[in-house]
Amino acid sequence: MLIRFADTRPAGDFALVLPAAGSKQPGLDSLGTSKAAVEATLKRSRFEGESGATVEHFVESDSGRRLLVVGTGADTSASDAAEKLGGTAVAKLQTSGESHAVIDLTGLNYDADAAARVALGAALRSWRFDRYRTRLKDKQKPTLIEITVVGGKAGAEERYASRYAAIVSGVTLTRELVTEPANIIYPESFVARVREEVKDSGLELEVLGLEEMTKLGMGALLGVSQGSVRKPQLLVLKWSGGKAGDTPTVFIGKGVTFDTGGISIKPAQNMESMKWDMGGAGAVAGALLALAGRKAKANVIGVCGLVENMPDGNAQRPGDVVTTMSGQTVEVINTDAEGRLVLCDAITWAQKAYKPKVIVDLATLTGAMVIALGHEMAGIFSNDESLAKNLIRAANASGDLLWRQPLGEAYDRLIDSPIADMKNVGPREAGSITAAQFIKRFVDDGVAWAHLDIAGMAWSDKASATCDKGATGFGVRLLDQYIADSVEG
Ligand code: BES
Ligand code: MN
Ligand code: ZN
Repeated sequence: MLIRFADTRPAGDFALVLPAAGSKQPGLDSLGTSKAAVEATLKRSRFEGESGATVEHFVESDSGRRLLVVGTGADTSASDAAEKLGGTAVAKLQTSGESHAVIDLTGLNYDADAAARVALGAALRSWRFDRYRTRLKDKQKPTLIEITVVGGKAGAEERYASRYAAIVSGVTLTRELVTEPANIIYPESFVARVREEVKDSGLELEVLGLEEMTKLGMGALLGVSQGSVRKPQLLVLKWSGGKAGDTPTVFIGKGVTFDTGGISIKPAQNMESMKWDMGGAGAVAGALLALAGRKAKANVIGVCGLVENMPDGNAQRPGDVVTTMSGQTVEVINTDAEGRLVLCDAITWAQKAYKPKVIVDLATLTGAMVIALGHEMAGIFSNDESLAKNLIRAANASGDLLWRQPLGEAYDRLIDSPIADMKNVGPREAGSITAAQFIKRFVDDGVAWAHLDIAGMAWSDKASATCDKGATGFGVRLLDQYIADSVEG
């Protein structure tokens, strides 16, 4: 999507988008002789400027221009309404036949940031994935290619270019990786795709393959991978925008490119959704691209633990005992609790390599998290009050919402094993918490750590104002905001 900013409406053909904040509809005054007819349409449509409501009208006097009035709510602040406005306009117009939409904010008092966020919402909502649709009818194809935001305060264009354009690239990368099926995106092709997408970003890449990981003793990660013909990869993305020598913040993502459950195989129903079991790794890659894109003044490392979890003659069995890179042993009771086995070795490796003070991991880790929080918020588990507070603040500012979950000694005891240092599952109850407790056993003393269980958030079956149904890109904006406010700021 081409995004432009202008002081006044351009010449030529375009669809005009006018926001209406409840009954406050300053844009209508610009309609001249058409105003009365538009007001009549709004009235007959029972339009009251509610957030997300839309009415279309073709203005005759203006060479048949399409007008789209978008409600932004009477009491909604500009910063809350802005992205939704841009996104709603794009959702309505994307396949409408219009190629250019002008969103006119004149009279609404949107500051530079809010005007830039109108464009952000529009750009985020315009992403779609048509790569494998070879028979789309012309009428089903997107026509909208350009958005012009008019009437924001000066500085909107700079704000968009310096912050939000990078977010769009990051979220887009994540959504692409998450949407691609598992025959296309597997550990090695995940690395190749990311390498291609970040090649001009200034990010450094490092990749550990099977041999290196074997030498390092990553028995838990490799145990998950051993039933697959796809070779595992540990992908490391480095952004060095901060002071040389400053300890980096480390983000770690679960990248199970397909999760069949392994020998503890999942039921067939909905198993196809496990192509997005790499949503944590996807978010980490997207966040690093966003940070590099806006030249964040911070040192950040992204680690993606990439494996495929398959049943096979060589697959690990329930009851197998594996030795992790940390030296701790794990009895693998259930081969479907594989995410934690990948994360534990990735965490140990990152601690050895970078001695970080802060680690945040993201993982589509447990179905139990989806049962607890649904598709509205991800769960956050943390051993550090200030890290949890900062992440929750970033969540509220970015819209990638988090809700704190408990940790505790009594939960930790539920994963003790009779044969090894721990088992990889506890009882059915508190399944998300025992998963977090498992990961916590690999976090070094003194490291502030947060685990984000994003199982309910990486994919959405319904469209939102800034995202079509499908991959959401959850986590990218959250991590970018956290770095901006708590590491740079
Ligand atoms: N990737 C799944 C978790 C998941 C399930 C994410 C549904 C999104 C939707 C994870 O690897 C898994 O299989 N977890 C098991 C753990 C259990 C065996 C202790 C689960 O949640 O059922
Ligand atoms: Mn699983
Ligand atoms: Zn999984």
